[in-house]
Amino acid sequence: MEKHGVRRIGVLTGGGDCPGLNAVIRGVVKTGIYRYGLEVVGIEDGYLGLIENRMHVMDPTEVSNILTSGGTILGACNKADPARYAIWKDGQWTHRDVTDEVIEHYRRWKLDALVVIGGDGTMAGANHLIRHGLKVVGVPKTIDNDLPETDITFGHDTAAATAADALDKVHTTASSHHRVMVVELMGRYAGWLALRAGVASGADVILIPEIPFRIDAVAARCVERSKHGKRFTIIAAGEGAYPAGGEMIVDHMDKSSPDPLRLGGVAKCVASEIERATGLESRSIVLGHIQRGGTPTAFDRVLGTMLAHHAVELVMAGRFGELVVFRGGKIDSVPIDAIAGRIKTVPADDPLVQAARSVGTCFGDDRTVGPRARAATISADPRQDSHSEPRRPD
Ligand code: F6P
Repeated sequence: MEKHGVRRIGVLTGGGDCPGLNAVIRGVVKTGIYRYGLEVVGIEDGYLGLIENRMHVMDPTEVSNILTSGGTILGACNKADPARYAIWKDGQWTHRDVTDEVIEHYRRWKLDALVVIGGDGTMAGANHLIRHGLKVVGVPKTIDNDLPETDITFGHDTAAATAADALDKVHTTASSHHRVMVVELMGRYAGWLALRAGVASGADVILIPEIPFRIDAVAARCVERSKHGKRFTIIAAGEGAYPAGGEMIVDHMDKSSPDPLRLGGVAKCVASEIERATGLESRSIVLGHIQRGGTPTAFDRVLGTMLAHHAVELVMAGRFGELVVFRGGKIDSVPIDAIAGRIKTVPADDPLVQAARSVGTCFGDDRTVGPRARAATISADPRQDSHSEPRRPD
């Protein structure tokens, strides 16, 4: 069946990988072939495959048995921006616009449309290609859950489950050794991952970029817990968390990437500051790319399948330039450029932040509630603090 002149579509996975990508690829390939009789071309390594002309016609057997596997069978790349492609030349990175090559390869493969699966960088690339006349539909992915216009991105649920599992495991060793354990989680400039994983595992302290922390408040919570017989503290720290008046900690710059800044190091700093301020033995752990791997949760497989189906429906309806989203429990779509240059951060009054505060979670700011609240907020030197009466939530 041919509709809107569409007979052959390309599919690619751009940006960093995340659990559920294979569920989306499978959904696009099977919906395209079985439901609409399309040919589906798999583009290898995100936009890099379009730049280097690496793609192949896919067969349904290629996507058989991949629903439950992490990663992406097509490969991914978070560096190949067609408008600003990084090339290593004479000992340094230079950039070149390779849009013409991309368009040539798109035409040579007789692609009528592209389904691009990716995060903000991939969607910026999609917008660029749309402006150059290519027909594109987007599917949002990221473990960070920081894309606007969608309630959740696939991959986030699995990453939060993985991070919560790691925090659970750290609980037992922290308890055995009476230590403060600071676990650094991904998420870039948004705290969704640290917030959800922290709440899921009952972390005592959650540090996120949206709520700058005071190290004395965090240290006071650790000391207060010790005084009440809880001789360990679990801290879930988003990699973008930073102290009030301070800055996010940059691990390194990746000059080959369109988004070169890589965060990292906050857990180490927080752990050493706490140990210095309180004398409590403190350790840091960076969970890193483990959060991007593994078997997707049932939620992510279902969401990925629904998004994929809808993406192909949009293509067949000729609704190019749209991004499939999940809002209010339903699949919907918005223009891809609606998310350009925007990120979705955790609102200070997010229901999950409020719920966490109600059960006594410390965010390292002045608004911590519960029996240990005053200890965490009034003392500049946590060692001098004394037990105080509970106060009511704000
Ligand atoms: O956006 C996903 C993400 O995993 C972030 O949470 C993290 O900051 C970044 O990618 C790491 O990127 P890379 O894989 O290039 O180190």
